[in-house]
Amino acid sequence: MSVRKRLTTRAINAMTRPAVAPNPFAPTLEQRVSGKTALVTGASSGIGRALALRLGRAGATVLVTARRAEELDLVVKEIEDAGGTAYSLPADLAEEDGVNALADRVLAEHGAPDVLVLNAGRSIRRSIARSEHRLHDYDRALRINYLGAVGLTLRLLPGMRERRSGHVLTSSSVGVQSDLPRFSAYIGSKAALDAFLRVAAVECLADRVKFTIVHLPLVDTEMIGPTGWDGFESLSVDEAADMIAEAIRRQPDHLGTALGNLTAAGITLAPRTFRRGLHYFHRAVPESDASKG
Ligand SMILES: NC(=O)c1ccc[n+]([C@@H]2O[C@H](COP(=O)([O-])OP(=O)(O)OC[C@H]3O[C@@H](n4cnc5c(N)ncnc54)[C@H](OP(=O)(O)O)[C@@H]3O)[C@@H](O)[C@H]2O)c1
Repeated sequence: MSVRKRLTTRAINAMTRPAVAPNPFAPTLEQRVSGKTALVTGASSGIGRALALRLGRAGATVLVTARRAEELDLVVKEIEDAGGTAYSLPADLAEEDGVNALADRVLAEHGAPDVLVLNAGRSIRRSIARSEHRLHDYDRALRINYLGAVGLTLRLLPGMRERRSGHVLTSSSVGVQSDLPRFSAYIGSKAALDAFLRVAAVECLADRVKFTIVHLPLVDTEMIGPTGWDGFESLSVDEAADMIAEAIRRQPDHLGTALGNLTAAGITLAPRTFRRGLHYFHRAVPESDASKG
């Protein structure tokens, strides 16, 4: 590895930590969610699973959803074994019927949740040069990362607004803040959801519903397996769940890392310089084998 590449990797790794100043005055997670209902999408594995377990330990009634029912049953069992309460509600959120069936069930059996974590998603890493005949990549990413999340929010938000309380969060990505090359399908869908939630935050301000965009860095889950980003620092799933739990506790508009926040500021203040840097990064990191498929 060249000196330049090693230094770039080191600098990126050093900033891949949540940028959160201590706030002892915010309620604890337990105070925030105990006795409340939290719906976590994408809870069958990775970050969503770890977050569901965390919320269960904090005393929330956790509603877990994803497609793999057996995995959800294991999450429910683990929460119950630890003395908590959880329900499995399997659904395919890439399909409108799946979104509506889930929303109907949640509203009928539990009412609008107090906390909604829009976490289900999929990542696609492929350069635009390799996407000439792959519009379906963009369609797939949009269906689960954007439309599924928006569809669910549209159905659950009226109950939150009527009750005048609720918190909607999304597992967004540092890539959205940094125009990450080779992730145009993924980043586009994630950025669209960020924008939807920012508009919702404006419209729902008087109804006291809160919205938080969590810009997660690289997290060590099944999702990043095919990306081939060896050498770059990643959070563990528990650290990523901690980051979202911190957002549930504090209810900020945004929570991210030093890496994402600095890059976003840099792109705004010195767009050409940053674009050049990102282009260098794009050329220095090779295409993954998975992206050739
Ligand atoms: N890992 C990272 O580096 C990273 C970084 C930034 C943001 N994020 C975001 O964090 C979230 C969780 O990702 P992860 O890393 O924990 O990956 P993961 O382990 O692959 O989790 C993805 C979750 O989404 C669910 N899902 C996928 N397609 C679905 C569908 N059509 N309907 C319902 N559920 C579906 C999966 O469950 P089923 O397969 O059972 O349906 C799974 O529970 C994603 O939104 C991702 O974009 C991840």
